[in-house]
Amino acid sequence: MTSGRLGREWTEYYRAVQGRPPRALFLEMLDQFKAAGLDLAGAQAVDLGCGDGIETALLLQAGWRVLAVDQQPEAIALVRERVPPEHAAHLQTLVTPFQDVEFPPSFLVFAGYSLPFCPPERFPVLWERVARAILPGGYFVGHLFGDRDGWAGAPDVTFFSRAGAEALFSQFELKTFREVDDVRPSALEGPKRWHVYEIIARKSGVMAEP
Ligand SMILES: C[S@@+](CC[C@H](N)C(=O)[O-])C[C@H]1O[C@@H](n2cnc3c(N)ncnc32)[C@H](O)[C@@H]1O
Repeated sequence: MTSGRLGREWTEYYRAVQGRPPRALFLEMLDQFKAAGLDLAGAQAVDLGCGDGIETALLLQAGWRVLAVDQQPEAIALVRERVPPEHAAHLQTLVTPFQDVEFPPSFLVFAGYSLPFCPPERFPVLWERVARAILPGGYFVGHLFGDRDGWAGAPDVTFFSRAGAEALFSQFELKTFREVDDVRPSALEGPKRWHVYEIIARKSGVMAEP
């Protein structure tokens, strides 16, 4: 998944990660919701850059309504294949670049390793829409790339300093903000440096009933 070839490589990426487990950050989020005693059946979530959609499927199974967005038709086809008919009525999908979407008011925006692939010049508007869509007391959960990442400087990929990433969350309480800087294989390449912020953030304000 290197810069300049991203569009062509997502199909190979889905093949390479076929059967993957849900993101650890997503499971950590579910643990936090459970610990907070939140009953979220019926709540609205957006899965941004959903890929093969395992997180979307788990949310639907737990009774959420989900808008799954991905610019790759293959991704949305994989999500639709994965979701059993009894949950399909609670699933909406969009094959659209997420920077072009107006999101519905949502309790959760989950963005697993996807937001960095927004072109930097479009990121401020995308982030403004994401932050606006999240209801008071709702959550943003996802990953951002840091400026020491091995892909830093790639065109059409957005990277943040730690201060720049933290500044996005002025309207949020940071429940988890972890900076990871290590060398690991990527799905399609050998080892690369990963500089990633893992974020679980709760928007200020009082939560309404889902
Ligand atoms: C690394 S995959 C992550 C998939 C999944 N969220 C996960 O956690 O494994 C990134 C996904 O974001 C999608 N994506 C990248 N840029 C996008 C954009 N600008 N708009 C919508 N989807 C995008 C890709 O098509 C891909 O499915």
